[in-house]
Amino acid sequence: MRRKIIAGNWKMNKTPSETVTLISELKPLVDNKDVDVVFCVPAISLTTAIEAVKGTNIQIGAENMHFEESGAYTGEISANMLTDIGVKYVIIGHSERREYFAETNETVNKKVLKAFEHGLTPIVCCGETLTQREQGVTIDFIRQQIKIAFLNVSVENAKKAVIAYEPIWAIGTGKVATTEQAQEVCKAIRECIAEIYDQATADAIRIQYGGSVSGASAAELFAQADIDGGLVGGASLKPDFGKIVNYNK
Ligand code: 13P
Repeated sequence: MRRKIIAGNWKMNKTPSETVTLISELKPLVDNKDVDVVFCVPAISLTTAIEAVKGTNIQIGAENMHFEESGAYTGEISANMLTDIGVKYVIIGHSERREYFAETNETVNKKVLKAFEHGLTPIVCCGETLTQREQGVTIDFIRQQIKIAFLNVSVENAKKAVIAYEPIWAIGTGKVATTEQAQEVCKAIRECIAEIYDQATADAIRIQYGGSVSGASAAELFAQADIDGGLVGGASLKPDFGKIVNYNK
C-alpha cells in the first residue's frame, strides 16, 4: 500500500517573513498522520521554513536545483547545499522551468541523478500541453519525458522517486483534469515504469496529480488507483490546503 504524498509548490510566492506567518497558519490544518506532507518553498525561505516546521510531520522541499556538484554557476543552488540545511525533497523539471528556463528532458535527467546521489527525493514533473492532448499524443509525450528522466536511475532509487503528472493546461487555470483523464495518464506512467524496471518498482513509486487541485477535487482524485497524492500550487498558499491534506477525513 503506497503512502499518499501531498506537496505544496509555493512557486515564486511569499517572502521569508511571510513564510513564517503562512506556516504558522497552515501547521494546525495539515496535521494528518496518514499522509506525507511537503512544502516546497523558494530557495531563500528554505532555512526559515525548516525552522518553522520543527516538531511537525511537515517536510520541506526545494523547487529546483542545479545538476552539477559545485562550481562557476552564478545564481544556482546545488544538491549538497539543500541537504546541508535539511531539505528532503526537490521538484525537478516543473513545466514552468521547462517553459521559462529552458529545462529539457536531458537536464531533468541530470538533476534527478544528482538529487539521488545526495539522498534527496526528486518530485519529477511531467505533463502535456493542450495541443498535445488535442492531437492525441499525450501518452506518447509523457512516456518520452519519463523514459529520459529515469535514464541510468537505479531500480533502488526509482522506487523512492515521486512523479508528478501535471497537465500544463490544468496548471493555474482552475481547469482541473477529470478524474478519468488524471487516472489514465498516471496509470500509463506506472506501466512505463514497469517496462523500464519491473512491476515491484512500478508498485512502489508514488505518482501525484497536479493542476488546479482544491479541497473540493482532492478526495475524488486521490481515490483513483494510480494517484498517490497531489502537487498543489495556488491552493497550497491557502487554508484550503488543509482540506486537501485531510482529503480522507
Ligand atoms: P495550481 O495548483 O495552481 O494549478 O498549480 C499546479 C502546479 O503547478 C503545482 O506544481
